[in-house]
Amino acid sequence: MPILAPSLLSANFAHFQEALTLVHQHQAPWLHFDVMDGQFVPAITFGSQVVASLRDKSETFFDVHLMTNTPERHFAAFAQAGANNITFHIEATHHAHALVQQIHTLGVKAGIALNPATPLSAIVELLPFVDLVLVMSVNPGAGGQSMIPSMLQKVKRLQQMKSHYNYPYHIQIDGGINESTIFAVKNAGIDVVVAGSAFFANPKLDLFLQRLRS
Ligand code: DX5
Ligand code: ZN
Repeated sequence: MPILAPSLLSANFAHFQEALTLVHQHQAPWLHFDVMDGQFVPAITFGSQVVASLRDKSETFFDVHLMTNTPERHFAAFAQAGANNITFHIEATHHAHALVQQIHTLGVKAGIALNPATPLSAIVELLPFVDLVLVMSVNPGAGGQSMIPSMLQKVKRLQQMKSHYNYPYHIQIDGGINESTIFAVKNAGIDVVVAGSAFFANPKLDLFLQRLRS
């Protein structure tokens, strides 16, 4: 059964506490924080203070997805705030291996994310070192978009390499996952499913959760 990581991006920003309650109620083991800087992507969301404010209210695994330029500027603040995992984008740095080391030095798990147009070959040398690979199944920047189905080929190849080389990373998919797409995503061999609108703004949430967990 894949791990569910609801994305706070689709919650009501005036009521983060209620969003957290919903995450606990539905027993989602992870909470996904979409951090946007207005540079790497046009939108600005929130920073480490939001993570810190929720940290003492939850035992949930806090999964931070940095959609920022110069991601290394933010690692210490998010680690201090209580992030359990920090993921940055391969497109945002020339020094991904060094950045993974920096995150690990802070005692936090490290993930690498790929935009839809970025091939897996861009991160193949990193695979032995990361705790998570985030496959973007939409272009980053907003919730509520449609999944790009061909991104599931990346998930399948990551799963093959993971079992062939016995790599430890989780494979995460992010964007457009809902009750209609979840079966195909599970068949591709996913470990962690991010769900924004399908979790926080979905009249069919029960159906989505049932299909996710079946
Ligand atoms: C996109 C974010 C996603 C987004 C997913 O930039 O990284 O996490 O919130 O939202 P949904 O599930 O609505 O596609
Ligand atoms: Zn995300």
